[in-house]
Amino acid sequence: MYDDQPRAGGATMLMNRVETALVNSPPRRWLQRFYEVRLLTALGARTPGARAVEIGCGPGFGTTLILDKFGAASVDAVDLDPAMINRAERRLRRYGDSVRLAQGSATNLDAAFHAFGGGADASYDAVFDFAIIHHIPNWRDALAEAARVLKPGGRFFFDEVTATALMRTSYRVLFDQPSEDRFTTGEFLAELPRHGLDIGERWTTRVGGDYLVGVAFRSDRGRP
Ligand SMILES: C[S@@+](CC[C@H](N)C(=O)[O-])C[C@H]1O[C@@H](n2cnc3c(N)ncnc32)[C@H](O)[C@@H]1O
Repeated sequence: MYDDQPRAGGATMLMNRVETALVNSPPRRWLQRFYEVRLLTALGARTPGARAVEIGCGPGFGTTLILDKFGAASVDAVDLDPAMINRAERRLRRYGDSVRLAQGSATNLDAAFHAFGGGADASYDAVFDFAIIHHIPNWRDALAEAARVLKPGGRFFFDEVTATALMRTSYRVLFDQPSEDRFTTGEFLAELPRHGLDIGERWTTRVGGDYLVGVAFRSDRGRP
């Protein structure tokens, strides 16, 4: 079973051991810092002074990049896994009040950020998704939520794993991820405008369509 709530009992985590080790590894940090950030910046520019959200922050390395490389002023970050939030807390302590962390789901930021009064409609300049939405069974709800919290003109930065990758034997053997209703590049891009997110040509794929990277703008016309 894989849903968007932490599993009961605490023994089974959202990601299996292999993926948890990978997410916490130096190669993952290197890739994020020297490849993904550069590609996302080329597609959607930096975000100096932004009030940002990071969904699925994992151990918090992406949050440091949003602050240090994209130039955001603050980040409200959420992860479903309490163990990841603990790791992120340790990593991000030095940023003080610029970072607020919450355990909860990217599909309900209002609830996740309720304790510190975050997650309101149209209240953020940028939302960052570093490889998390493919983990969410109801992935369309995560897009709707990202769009909801963005101000008109706000940017949604995403770096995603498509159904093409998830169907590969290596992925299926190594990782424990949802397999039903995963998105292709076309399906993900087609879903964005349904939530008032304009993508235009600001996207690209990598490794034969396994990875989709892009930046969508929150339309000032709202949801169509
Ligand atoms: C592949 S990891 C990516 C972590 C980090 N963003 C990175 O790029 O290294 C996916 C993360 O999403 C989290 N996650 C899964 N479902 C979630 C949900 N519904 N809401 C928030 N976080 C979720 C997992 O706990 C995990 O930390």
